[in-house]
Amino acid sequence: MGPRTEQWINRPVALSGSAMVHKPLGLLAELTHRCPLGCPYCSNPLALDARGDELDTATWARVFREAAQLGVLQVHLLGGEPGARHDLVDVTAGAHAAGLYINLITSAVGITDKTLGALTEAGLDHVQISIQDSENPSADHIAGYDGAFARKRALATEVARRQLLLTVNAVVHRANIDRIGEMVDVALTLGASRIEIAHVQYYGWALKNRAALMPSREQVERAATAVAELRARHHGRIVIDAVVPDYCARYPKPCVGGWGRHSLNVTPAGKVLPCHAAESITGLEFWNVRDRSLADIWANSPAFNAFRGTAWMKEPCASCPRRELDFGGCRCQAFALTGDVSATDPVCHLAPDHARVEELAAVRTDAPYVYRRM
Ligand code: SF4
Ligand code: FES
Repeated sequence: MGPRTEQWINRPVALSGSAMVHKPLGLLAELTHRCPLGCPYCSNPLALDARGDELDTATWARVFREAAQLGVLQVHLLGGEPGARHDLVDVTAGAHAAGLYINLITSAVGITDKTLGALTEAGLDHVQISIQDSENPSADHIAGYDGAFARKRALATEVARRQLLLTVNAVVHRANIDRIGEMVDVALTLGASRIEIAHVQYYGWALKNRAALMPSREQVERAATAVAELRARHHGRIVIDAVVPDYCARYPKPCVGGWGRHSLNVTPAGKVLPCHAAESITGLEFWNVRDRSLADIWANSPAFNAFRGTAWMKEPCASCPRRELDFGGCRCQAFALTGDVSATDPVCHLAPDHARVEELAAVRTDAPYVYRRM
């Protein structure tokens, strides 16, 4: 630790009112943007951090300690593919030493049985594996990687054998939304205690494939009925988390639980973001853990304070009784669809730009996917 680092770590941090009220509970640690898959809805930013710019093991350990001091309870180790980091076991040990609950979010490609064993010994608590469909060849086609589905099944089996908790994450869109039931069956077969059915979020790379991924309204309605039936059928066996997709909702989601309220996201190169897609908003100033403590960033970073609370809101949000429930929706989506980061999320039926969402939801093509290649 250099003298400059010690100087700011030991400096008392003045927390603003909103930061005092809302302590962060979760930290998303993006260890790398490198990834073997090519998903057409990749949530990595358009400009990727280079391998040479990634934070080293010791810095991550320091970030985890600072996160724990700030009140964070849970860290999600993700990427890209975190297995691309050769020091993943040491990074995990650093999070464990800080006392954090550790969830590894992985594509499963790049995590061997041996690595999983070492991760378990280092303190790993939970594993989340994404699946692209319930069957091949569709699953590998969506992932843009031959053999991915078989490797996911193999790693999930090993996770269950080691009695680690397993969540299956299924991202759904037009090509697979009619097989939600089959994906729940896959999750049950693999021994998952929870499945997260997540509709594609349309910002960043997914915007390039929006028309190819967009489900029809009938598909979304069938999926909602299927989820209700599946929850009743599998009650007590598996938790099924699912939300209505943005473009078919009446109100927006309280994205990330409200900007700067509960979580923070550290990029591979150390920038701290209020949400994983925040870099898609131009003009925000992000601070970096290489220069400042996490507590200082949480309390004082211009990006975190930009949309905390409700003072920044325009009408109709400013006087809406739901403004403390959904916080005006998603800032990244508002910016992507309107170019105005302070606009009401157009998903809301009260938003001046709501018609834009309905127009976009009706645009569908059978164009081939534009895969994300690193
Ligand atoms: Fe939420 Fe704003 Fe819509 Fe009200 S107007 S429901 S606060 S997005
Ligand atoms: Fe950034 Fe919703 S994804 S605020």
